[in-house]
Amino acid sequence: MAIFDVPLAELRTRGTIKWRRFEADVLPMFVAEMDAHLAPAVRARLERALAEGDTGYPELPAYQEALADFAAWQWGWEFSPSDATLVTDVVTGMRDALMAVTEPGDPVVINSPIYPPFRGVSYDRTIVDVPMLDDRLDLEGLAEAFEEHRPKAYLLCSPHNPNGTIHTAEELAEVARLADRFGVVVISDEIHAPLAGAAHTPYLAVPGAHDAVIVTSASKSWNLAALKAGLIVGSASVRDRLRPMVSDGASYFGVLAHVAALADGRDWVREAADEIEGNKEFFAAQLAEHLPALSYTPLPGTYLAWLDCSPLGLESPVDHFHQVARVRLNAGRDFAPYAQQFVRVNLATNHDIIAEAVSRLAASVS
Ligand SMILES: Cc1ncc(COP(=O)(O)O)c(C=O)c1O
Repeated sequence: MAIFDVPLAELRTRGTIKWRRFEADVLPMFVAEMDAHLAPAVRARLERALAEGDTGYPELPAYQEALADFAAWQWGWEFSPSDATLVTDVVTGMRDALMAVTEPGDPVVINSPIYPPFRGVSYDRTIVDVPMLDDRLDLEGLAEAFEEHRPKAYLLCSPHNPNGTIHTAEELAEVARLADRFGVVVISDEIHAPLAGAAHTPYLAVPGAHDAVIVTSASKSWNLAALKAGLIVGSASVRDRLRPMVSDGASYFGVLAHVAALADGRDWVREAADEIEGNKEFFAAQLAEHLPALSYTPLPGTYLAWLDCSPLGLESPVDHFHQVARVRLNAGRDFAPYAQQFVRVNLATNHDIIAEAVSRLAASVS
């Protein structure tokens, strides 16, 4: 059975944001939830815990050990489980790491277009935006921003959400060189990395990366957002400054689920990645056939597509597609103030839904 082969009628019974935020006739392809069958290893582990009434608080460093084992296997990146701190989830981990190394008003560098909570977690810091350049990090722009603003922290998104860029080892080595030169702490969100597989380079595996943490979790690659847990790995000086209660939000079920995913869900995530690659090609082909004004070139990271709708001449593509096509996408403006003409499309679904969505989008502008 294909991982994304979940019938629409079954998906519509789900109670999550994706399936409940908008009207029942709207096809939701926005928030980063997968239309997937749960990985059997995760399901089996949770069912066992339920059957045993094993429903208390987490204690053992099982998640830290499982991530270290996965990282060594997948990326050849070795770290000690004692270099990882349990956190509630990746967004709160990013926020906690940022609060630990900066003060209100301090400059913090981000790269737009960017997953909106990067701005959210920096709410009372001063954001210095170095926009992506042709979907890649603007290394010269970063160097200039580091020199001019002397930021204490840089929030890196690796792989990058929304456009799916996987940063190369060379790009990351240059980031590390710049961070070292200007004394910037790099906080790298690598939540999409397991799905990207071997193509991804963990920031801390790059030569010269020291004053840095990776914030990550199994939640995005195995669709486990309901089961809260995440990890901050790396710099002891950053982790020592975290608030003492930082681990309190991770749930035992989150830890069990994420451990099962990392340890016993490796085939599942490779299969999911293969299906997603097929979905991206299918989406590109559907657009070429039914809505050729829009073109989409798949990038290898994440299951998200970042689509420029300016050729359609709509005032607000996301609102038009919602109101007229009855397809809900993410608004580009939430990722960058200049991206009003962009939408983000979630392709972790099946071909029937992708085909239906493209047909609705095309009909709405014909
Ligand atoms: C880059 C990125 N970071 C973090 C998250 C959310 O992670 P969590 O649910 O663990 O806070 C997402 C969710 O889509 C994401 O794309």
